[in-house]
Amino acid sequence: MAKTNLSFSCASCGASHKKWAGRCDACGEWNSIQEQAPLAAGPGTKTLGATKGRKVQLSDLKTEDKPLPRANCGIEELDRVLGGGLVPASAVLVGGDPGIGKSTLLLQAAARFALTGKKAIYVSGEEAASQIRMRAQRLDLTHSPVQLASESNLRDILTTLEAEQPDLVVIDSIQTMWVDHIDSAPGSVSQVRAVAHELTTFAKRKGIAVILVGHVTKEGQIAGPRVVEHMVDTVLYFEGERGHQFRILRAVKNRFGPADEIGVFEMTGAGLDEVRNPSALFLSDREKPAPGSVVFAGIEGTRPLLVEIQALVAQSALANARRTVVGWDSGRLSMILAVLESRCGLSFNGMDVYLNIAGGMRISEPAADLAVAAALISARQDTSLAGDLVIFGEISLSGGLRPISQAEARLKEAKKLGFSGAFAPSRMKLASTSGMNVKKVDDVGTFIADCFGEIEA
Ligand code: TYD
Ligand code: MG
Repeated sequence: MAKTNLSFSCASCGASHKKWAGRCDACGEWNSIQEQAPLAAGPGTKTLGATKGRKVQLSDLKTEDKPLPRANCGIEELDRVLGGGLVPASAVLVGGDPGIGKSTLLLQAAARFALTGKKAIYVSGEEAASQIRMRAQRLDLTHSPVQLASESNLRDILTTLEAEQPDLVVIDSIQTMWVDHIDSAPGSVSQVRAVAHELTTFAKRKGIAVILVGHVTKEGQIAGPRVVEHMVDTVLYFEGERGHQFRILRAVKNRFGPADEIGVFEMTGAGLDEVRNPSALFLSDREKPAPGSVVFAGIEGTRPLLVEIQALVAQSALANARRTVVGWDSGRLSMILAVLESRCGLSFNGMDVYLNIAGGMRISEPAADLAVAAALISARQDTSLAGDLVIFGEISLSGGLRPISQAEARLKEAKKLGFSGAFAPSRMKLASTSGMNVKKVDDVGTFIADCFGEIEA
């Protein structure tokens, strides 16, 4: 029987399998296993043998390097998320749901980059050049010298780039590109992997900054997933709720800057606008103080950000009461409900609980725990908190409050936006309170007593 050298891998989690199966053992996804041709024959059985190689130059840690030369794209929010601008010879992956605004953002970035006198090329495998020009008109960028191409054959693209020697290339999107020595369709794991590999090595070799656009599957992974993430230097996710105009660009991996940094944009009729003061924006629709509404003073990356946390608690008609969360971790919500029940005697049994982070924002900081607890209790008791109050602190399973980082920055931001009072964990040294009236509390029980007074369970 002829020996085949084909292998199979899952398009959703990237796990490799010996043979095709209807369901991936690794992630449980149905119908996601695809056949793929191997990238190379793999390592041979022989060792390197006795032939000597070249001696590699070693250096110590004291050797001083020049700082990385960075090029600004002219969009401040994007530059900050990248860690201070684009690094030459680097590869950036921008992931996001279809229709969230990746092409818009990167066309704006490439066009502004070209306006600074550097050479930028925007290659689209999805749209014709005329469609891109139409978008550029809408974005009012037709005066920019950025060059466009509508192509999906990677061999042709690399030949063009070799001749043109640009400083920046945008590839929109990696799922539409294909290399001709692999048989599978564009977008399959082996094609995506080969394309990303070719482009990142090309970027390193030629000193070009490459930005790859990657569509995310409905489970929130970039198709051909982990494979691409580890090949590139920086991974950015473009997120936001479809119905909201805010978009958040979040760094999840960055070899040249802090991860977790965010940039905030607003989708308008004429493209994406930068939002320099996001706190004001996230709070702008806030009505009068209402039951279940609490302002959390958070930190995203290096920047303080105030967001409104909303909770609704209602009698449930179901046997299993609902727990619905938007923009926060549902496991964390269960934990806080459990702490409130067993440490403070506040039961949410038989009640539906809804939690929402306003403005389409996602929060992952544990520092939001206390604000969430406050929103839940305020909703349950149907009492509203003072409108000039911000809250932060991490709740531990014992019901105690743990100190959190950068409290001064949080307080300063709150003061700037007109807040005057704050609740914070007591085991925290504060260098300055920025003139805020800070009430320090030890545990959730004290917090409830200070904030809500007597509550019957
Ligand atoms: P797009 O950049 O094409 O998304 P992606 O490349 O991530 O798939 O964005 C498409 C959406 O953005 C579309 O629904 C229309 C909207 N949009 C605006 O609201 N204003 C604009 O100026 C542009 C160009 C797009
Ligand atoms: Mg697009």
